[in-house]
Amino acid sequence: MTDTLKTDSKSYNKVAVWLHWSIGILIGLLLVIGFLMGNIPKDDISLRALVYNWHKTIGMLILVLSVVRLLWKLTHKAPAPLPGLKPWEKMVAKSLHSLFYVFMIGMPLLGWAIISTSRFPSFFFNSAKMRIPELPFWQGLDKVAKHDMHEFFEETHELMAFAGIALIVLHVFAALKHHKTGKDILVRMMPNYMRKK
Ligand code: HEM
Ligand code: HEM
Repeated sequence: MTDTLKTDSKSYNKVAVWLHWSIGILIGLLLVIGFLMGNIPKDDISLRALVYNWHKTIGMLILVLSVVRLLWKLTHKAPAPLPGLKPWEKMVAKSLHSLFYVFMIGMPLLGWAIISTSRFPSFFFNSAKMRIPELPFWQGLDKVAKHDMHEFFEETHELMAFAGIALIVLHVFAALKHHKTGKDILVRMMPNYMRKK
């Protein structure tokens, strides 16, 4: 068996660790860009297009990586729960991890729905040759109904961003708490070369 497929039952394997940190960093980046980009002056059209299109491009990458991560999780054994956890702690950890998947996949899907109900096209890498395809579901709606859907998706995307931040705060708090009480929780999610032998 290759190293990537091996689960030593105490730690996450290479692929899970790589996906965890790359998605985590990209989500952090998009939360910052997302909340700042609304402040770009409306008349600076080229800067707005650049930042918004990169937000969308990175968001679509997160969608792909998160689907891969979900498939990986469903097809590979996760390490055993951290030893010494109370049953309610195990249940809360599991529920929070599941909510993360709703966030990691739901957030980009909502973004995709925003651009699919917009009057303006969006482009991967801000390149005029690479239009991001629109989802077909709302294309038959009249102008007003489409605009209403657009606003609904924008608001839900924003609300979900706040819910995601709350999740991340809880998650980091739990990880640091268990780390402080001597459980090797952080080590489970570290690349191999950072784990103590
Ligand atoms: C947007 C940021 C983050 C997301 C979406 C995220 C998501 C997740 C998810 C879904 C899991 C469950 C395992 C899996 O399915 O792969 C997990 C585990 C873990 N995460 Fe994060 N995470 C984020 C940031 C962080 C940060 C900043 C830390 C460091 C403090 C961290 C530390 C851990 C640890 C130690 C585990 C293993 C938990 C265990 O062994 O039960 N995560 N994370
Ligand atoms: C996990 C991935 C994503 C995160 C964390 C994220 C985060 C955010 C945040 C924090 C905002 C600002 C919300 C507000 O103040 O209204 C925002 C706005 C926006 N996002 Fe995302 N986003 C993600 C994925 C996407 C994707 C994939 C697209 C499109 C393909 C997208 C399109 C947009 C658009 C068009 C806006 C502006 C909405 C408005 O003006 O109200 N996002 N995003």
